[in-house]
Amino acid sequence: MSKFVKKIKIKKPDDWHVHLRDNNILNKVIKYTGKFYKRAIIMPNLDNPITNCLKGISYRNRILNAMHVNYEFQPLMTCYLTRSTIPQELELGFSKKIFIAAKFYPDCATTNSKTGIKKISDITSVLECMERIGMPLLIHGEEICQNIDIYDREAKFIEKTLDPLRNKFPKLKIVLEHITTKESIEYIKKNDFNYLSATITPHHLILNRNDMFSGGIQPYLYCLPILKKYTHQIALRKAISQGDKHFFLGSDTAPHFHKNKINIFGCAGIFNAPSSLLSYVEVFEEMNALKHLESFCSENGPKFYNMPINKETITIVKKPCRIVKRINVGKDVIIPFLSGKTLRWSLDDKC
Ligand code: NCD
Ligand code: ZN
Repeated sequence: MSKFVKKIKIKKPDDWHVHLRDNNILNKVIKYTGKFYKRAIIMPNLDNPITNCLKGISYRNRILNAMHVNYEFQPLMTCYLTRSTIPQELELGFSKKIFIAAKFYPDCATTNSKTGIKKISDITSVLECMERIGMPLLIHGEEICQNIDIYDREAKFIEKTLDPLRNKFPKLKIVLEHITTKESIEYIKKNDFNYLSATITPHHLILNRNDMFSGGIQPYLYCLPILKKYTHQIALRKAISQGDKHFFLGSDTAPHFHKNKINIFGCAGIFNAPSSLLSYVEVFEEMNALKHLESFCSENGPKFYNMPINKETITIVKKPCRIVKRINVGKDVIIPFLSGKTLRWSLDDKC
């Protein structure tokens, strides 16, 4: 495929890392994910995290009820691991297809992770169970410690937690979520694709840490893992443009109210659902790698999760697309990533 392509047809993508929140926010944001993606892994870090099957079923119903637009959308639910998670609950949830995977948040690593995991040894029986039943473990891979620099958290996590975990549970299926560094790319590539893969966000492909401080501090670009150096950004871009199947689409779309982003303790998270797919297309185009767009967006994820690849297709056309400026939620507002900006590609709605 040359870089002069004007129209791209690919199997309908899935987003393997999405925060939809709940209630009024959920109602407003869901259509943006539903427009571009057939399925999405729904992260469980609500204010009241999804820690058992009943909560998972009820949250899934709220998501389906919130989808007013007629999109055929399938939320794939995940269970939030705490030190009290019971292996039998996960086994039940996985066997009944209530949960597709479980999420490991290190304690205090990110939004609503105060009940996350302090020591990996606290969940040994849970991990043994997940390895046995083939349930994927999704990891927020950052080592959180006062003395570890925020820019080194991901690399340290690989060294101190992930590598020992892989040695102890070699057949446990793991997704290292939203990877941001050269070290992560190299580590992931060395491992068997069936047991270790990774998602990559559009913002970590488009931006580096200079952008966060360009012209003044930009709270809207604050996310976790934090944006990294240019050299890491380049490594991520290279990895996806080589078509390596260890890597797949996970936008980490994470809406927060404006008042909580612009706050003395601003929240981490970038709401990119309105632009995520089109941004990925731009990156693949810039890397002259459009031939690998479909595997990244629509094939590598389902292969890892042992799910069917979508049959439906979407068409993306070279036509400017303006990203929605703001989304009102009652008296509050959510400002999306690339708010009001124009991207080079659009979804062909006619198809
Ligand atoms: C996410 C959120 O707000 O839920 N924030 C973020 O910066 N990415 C959580 C997460 O994935 O870390
Ligand atoms: Zn996330």
